[in-house]
Amino acid sequence: MAELHEIAKQALTEIENAKSLRELNDVRIKYLGKKGPIQEAMKIMKDLDEEGRKAFGKLANDTKNAITEALEAKERVLQEEELKRKLEAEKIDVTLPSRKQTLGIAHLTQQVIMEIEDIFLGMGYTIAEGPEVESDYFNFEMLNLPKGHPARDMQDSFYITEELLLRTHTSPVQARTMLKYQGQGPVKIICPGKVYRRDDDDATHSHQFLQIEGLVIDEKITMSDLKGTLAYFAKKMFGEEREIRFRPSFFPFTEPSVEVDVTCAKCLGKGCPMCKHTGYIEILGAGMVHPNVLRMGGFDPEKYQGFAFGMGPERIAILKYGIDDIRQFYTNDLRFNHQFNRML
Ligand code: PHE
Repeated sequence: MAELHEIAKQALTEIENAKSLRELNDVRIKYLGKKGPIQEAMKIMKDLDEEGRKAFGKLANDTKNAITEALEAKERVLQEEELKRKLEAEKIDVTLPSRKQTLGIAHLTQQVIMEIEDIFLGMGYTIAEGPEVESDYFNFEMLNLPKGHPARDMQDSFYITEELLLRTHTSPVQARTMLKYQGQGPVKIICPGKVYRRDDDDATHSHQFLQIEGLVIDEKITMSDLKGTLAYFAKKMFGEEREIRFRPSFFPFTEPSVEVDVTCAKCLGKGCPMCKHTGYIEILGAGMVHPNVLRMGGFDPEKYQGFAFGMGPERIAILKYGIDDIRQFYTNDLRFNHQFNRML
């Protein structure tokens, strides 16, 4: 019986010293297992008289119970400690700044189109659209470019059939719009969209690019309306200090035709390496709508006049943001695209 007391004492100390649930389990097996010291000590029972067996049996049971109780109590303590440790380790620091979510942004060409649209919407224009797969008829013939006209060479085309092609410019929307208005002015539209030309891609050429067409038709429209409109646009788009100039040019669908330059961003007209010492940089083509085009579109050229212009948003972005290669717009390199997130 003294031995049982000793076993109990030892077991309780080991339970107390156990540092983990695993260690505690080892102690349980050691003392309460089939080959444990209590089980061992109980072998003596068969040599005892009834009274002795009763007394010894009770003590053995009490010892087992005491050890079991101590084990359970310690188990609860250790479980709690373990939980605490786990909570500590897995703690979420709610004050930590969250990971940044990058938002998508409008592509630079789209931003520029929206900016240009805003300027013209502010002048009372509406936005028109037309198909990218266009008929030869609208792309050329309605624009005073009959079959075999030498000026068709200016726009190398992707033909789908004899009569269908990818539009080479947004000008067919002029013709489509005129027909829609059924000879009734005023017309005041711009049309942004994709156009296609057979070109070898390089830093300044792309077989697919963007244009924004403008068309105004009304009574008493003159070249000075065109000039005033484009001068206003240039100042809004590039800055108050910028001026424009007209240079004579040729388009079969406008007469007279002009190319429009804006004063160079760097020298404002004085001449510098950026503008090749001309002081100006070309931004668009324009002119007074040719009477043939008005007539084919159902407008009476005796009553109505109009002006039209066509500009390239990429070219405008290149000038505004100093981009050195038109291919940058189409490679979808996010490092390029995300430099221009001023819309957000
Ligand atoms: N469509 C012409 C081009 O692509 C541009 C233009 C449009 C010129 C309208 C005059 C009037 O080159």
